[in-house]
Amino acid sequence: MSAGGDEEQQELEDAEDDTASDGDGAAAGSGDGVAAVSAADAADPKFIALLEKLHTEHNFDFRQYKRASLLRRVRQRMTQVRVDRFDTYMTYLDRHADEHIALLNAVLINVTRFFRDPDAWNVLREGILPRLIESASTTHALRFWSAGCSSGEEAYSLAILVAEILRARRDDYDVKIYATDIDDDALATARAGLYRLDALKEVAPELVDRYFMADGQAFRVRRELRKWCIFGRHDLTQDAPLAHVDVLVCRNVLIYFDSTLQSRIVPRFQYAIRPEGYLFLGRSESMLASSQRFVPVDFKWRIFQRLELNPAEAVSTTIVDTQARAARTTRTDATQLAARIGGILENVPAGIIVIDPAETIVVWNPMAEHMFEVPADNALGRKFRDLDISYRIDGLRARLEEVRTTQMHSQIQDVAFGRRAGDTMHVNVRIAPLYDDRRRLSGVMIAVNDMSTYWQLRDELDRLGEQSATANEELQSTNEELETTNEELQSTNEELETTNEELQSTNEELETTVEELQSTNTELTALNTELERRTAELRRAEAFELSVLNAVQQAIFVVDPTLVVTHWNAAATQLWDVPMNAAVGREFARLPAARLTRVASEALQRVVATRAPERLTGLPRARPDGDGITLELIPVLAVDGELVGVLGTAVTDRSGDRRTA
Ligand SMILES: C[S@@+](CC[C@H](N)C(=O)[O-])C[C@H]1O[C@@H](n2cnc3c(N)ncnc32)[C@H](O)[C@@H]1O
Repeated sequence: MSAGGDEEQQELEDAEDDTASDGDGAAAGSGDGVAAVSAADAADPKFIALLEKLHTEHNFDFRQYKRASLLRRVRQRMTQVRVDRFDTYMTYLDRHADEHIALLNAVLINVTRFFRDPDAWNVLREGILPRLIESASTTHALRFWSAGCSSGEEAYSLAILVAEILRARRDDYDVKIYATDIDDDALATARAGLYRLDALKEVAPELVDRYFMADGQAFRVRRELRKWCIFGRHDLTQDAPLAHVDVLVCRNVLIYFDSTLQSRIVPRFQYAIRPEGYLFLGRSESMLASSQRFVPVDFKWRIFQRLELNPAEAVSTTIVDTQARAARTTRTDATQLAARIGGILENVPAGIIVIDPAETIVVWNPMAEHMFEVPADNALGRKFRDLDISYRIDGLRARLEEVRTTQMHSQIQDVAFGRRAGDTMHVNVRIAPLYDDRRRLSGVMIAVNDMSTYWQLRDELDRLGEQSATANEELQSTNEELETTNEELQSTNEELETTNEELQSTNEELETTVEELQSTNTELTALNTELERRTAELRRAEAFELSVLNAVQQAIFVVDPTLVVTHWNAAATQLWDVPMNAAVGREFARLPAARLTRVASEALQRVVATRAPERLTGLPRARPDGDGITLELIPVLAVDGELVGVLGTAVTDRSGDRRTA
């Protein structure tokens, strides 16, 4: 699709030369009020090298985009990746494969909306489109082009308007809406045709119902509308234009281009649009104010109609009723009249040239001397065609010829010619036939008005308008970025609040647990104190019990039902020569008192089994020299009758008495 060839190359080089003196590049930074961009930065050869690199290596040609805005965006991206020099950034581009995409996204401003500038779309809805559709009633074919369509809202707005007018006749027409951009990400969004509800706030609710369907939280363009739109990548600065388009919508794109590039694009638009087709620009785009290629249909909303490719037809001609005018003229004395006319010619602030039917110059006033830098003496009496001025004003000779043959007024608006000092003068030229008193053509008057100051002011105004529009777009884009960041922050905040709530609830649970533990602890402390008290009581009871047992003169021991010794008093130690700590906790049968255990173990088993007391007499002592002893084995029962042990008491065997051992 790229336009190529020598001619294109030459055009490009010319445009670059012009850009150097364009004035809307480096100087713009001083007054646009968004961010100061230094003139040095704009002219920095490294920055220019970066633009060349983007063009040759990545096929993005930003060389003729307005420098101030472009610089700001590139610098913004460089700040994001923490690079502050253009040459370092070029290396960064080489090392990071996707960086050129990120840079493209930073440079291209995608601000758009459905029915952006609703009043402008109303002009389309009420005037242009119904007429257009009417005129296509035989071909049934409609072709539109939304150039620089961003994320598709513009193309779908157009589709909605066309669908609204066609309504039931929709299927009878072959509608094609080509929508192009250089931003692939934006095109992907456009192709998906999925928009959040807040993006649809400019669309009337009934149109949302008719042309969108809910898809999750968003709204999707319905199939019947979507199928009309063909999205594709197209670079307005490089690719060949589409053709035979009925309406070309290119809004808020040209404002990013410098004036040289703008004037290179306009003829392509003229080519793209079919005769009498329409061009719809953004409200700040005033580059066509004096175009000979388009006439305004609604200048406020920048809607233009294409003129025929031959610019000669751009100039309107009017027939002047010369007879009526002659009737209004009073007859005056010829000499007086000549003097008055001479005075007028001296003072009129327009260059006036009159030539007779033989093309000899008969009037050349002082303003003409000044404008064309030719003294009256050198001009008067010469043939007009012999003066180079007749060629320097583009189209003048042809128009002169035309007036002579048609005898109708003609004019050339905003034509420029170079002067000796090298400056350019912008003029409007009016050419009128003159008649003698017998209504025969007696000559032609050429009146030339200097419009340079007007054009300078208008150019300046346009430039300022475009500058403020780009600044506005940038602000909007920054605003949108801020809104996104804000939304992200809000969502992070919400997540943090949720986490906080969870932590609070965990904290509350922990506090409850701590309180429960504290209460358990208090209970345990009380229990412990009670336990200590009981233990002390038990110790006292044990000590008391031991003292009692030891105070008894009789040898006493107790075994539990498994015949393990639980008590063994001092008298028992003495009697069987087994210390208390060697006896307590040991099985009775294993006591180191063989003479005792041999005879008593079986009896103890019987008492445990039968619960009947037994008396064993004549048992030996520890020392064989003493008297024999009698051992009484008594079962010990708990209050519930359960056997808890057997009590053994020993007395010495002396004839008839029962003294303790
Ligand atoms: C501010 S948006 C305008 C969108 C839409 N036309 C509107 O007015 O709502 C400008 C669009 O022009 C696109 N653009 C910039 N340079 C371009 C070029 N050389 N060729 C095609 N589109 C371009 C950008 O990618 C961006 O999507």
